[in-house]
Amino acid sequence: MNLDDWSGARDGDLAAVAAETRRWADSAADSPLYRHFALAIADDPDLLAVLARIPGVPPMNLLLGAVKLRLNADDPLAAWYPHLTPQPRTPGPAAYAALRAYVVGRADAVVAEASARRTQTNETGRAAVLLPWVAAFAGDEPVHAVDLGASAGLNLCLDRFSYRYTWTGGTTLLGSGAPELHCEWRGDGPPVSALPMFATRTGIDLSPVDATDPYQAAWLEALVWPEHQDRLARLRAAIEARRNVDVAMIAGDAARMLGEVEAGLPPGPMVIWHTVALYQAPPEVHERIDAAVAAISRHRRVLRLGMEPVRGLPDVQVRVGASFAQARTVATAHAHGRWVAPAYA
Ligand SMILES: C[S@@+](CC[C@H](N)C(=O)[O-])C[C@H]1O[C@@H](n2cnc3c(N)ncnc32)[C@H](O)[C@@H]1O
Repeated sequence: MNLDDWSGARDGDLAAVAAETRRWADSAADSPLYRHFALAIADDPDLLAVLARIPGVPPMNLLLGAVKLRLNADDPLAAWYPHLTPQPRTPGPAAYAALRAYVVGRADAVVAEASARRTQTNETGRAAVLLPWVAAFAGDEPVHAVDLGASAGLNLCLDRFSYRYTWTGGTTLLGSGAPELHCEWRGDGPPVSALPMFATRTGIDLSPVDATDPYQAAWLEALVWPEHQDRLARLRAAIEARRNVDVAMIAGDAARMLGEVEAGLPPGPMVIWHTVALYQAPPEVHERIDAAVAAISRHRRVLRLGMEPVRGLPDVQVRVGASFAQARTVATAHAHGRWVAPAYA
């Protein structure tokens, strides 16, 4: 299922890194600045060499996140970043020249920053994709929610957010809390009529993010693409919401921890979801998670809901089933939850 194959970076194969960088540009279609940067980097051996020094995945997110994290308003590059200037310039060759100068001028520092981090973008827009299936499964019964690759655990607060779904029949509004998530439902509606109740909430992550720590929150903000000021606002609102919700965050590999986490839960139905997270994991992690879900489903009512990119498919796939690879695709969706298109059998 891995979306990315940056293994060329490990082998110093810059042609392979360039090919992956071009593919990455396709996934950044709704950030003109980052798409422009990616396409230009793919033709620039010096910057490809910098990218190849970053061990984490995807190195493009880490490189551009590290730049955005440290960029300040005095640097010429800031002229293209809406959080640093009220009237950002249009992407073009001058933007790339500024990025290039910035990165080449401090390559070791940028690589060190990017190498010390993970791509942990916590995107609450994805809650609007999860909600219809989680709510249908839960009905009136409280469920145990477990998020694999939860980052800061923000989406475990999805019952505290509010939703505005637009669909052919009109608009469905649900909930009253912040952030308000806007999502186009490209199917019959309404997509959902009630918020679910959670008995417990558990996030598992290789490196859980504490969003109340300003240093860690700054990295979450840096991972938001520059033009997406709406995403930045909802990230901040979700961090506030998260302060008042009891979420157990477990550090570790989801494949190793899932069984242990489940064993510690009281009886009751369980929803296990993962959103744009396990694409970072190798096949053996997927196999172990599939086996753990199958084992749990033998003694507990469980929904496994995956929302992951799949190599070769243009949109994120939403799937229900014990194994993501073999599960039924119930929808395709925008990676940040701007729209969902349910699949009708
Ligand atoms: C791109 S972030 C997505 C976070 C969140 N699911 C969301 O959609 O907002 C991916 C997260 O998955 C975590 N991750 C990747 N592989 C993992 C694994 N095998 N076990 C646990 N967490 C993992 C990363 O540490 C990172 O925080």
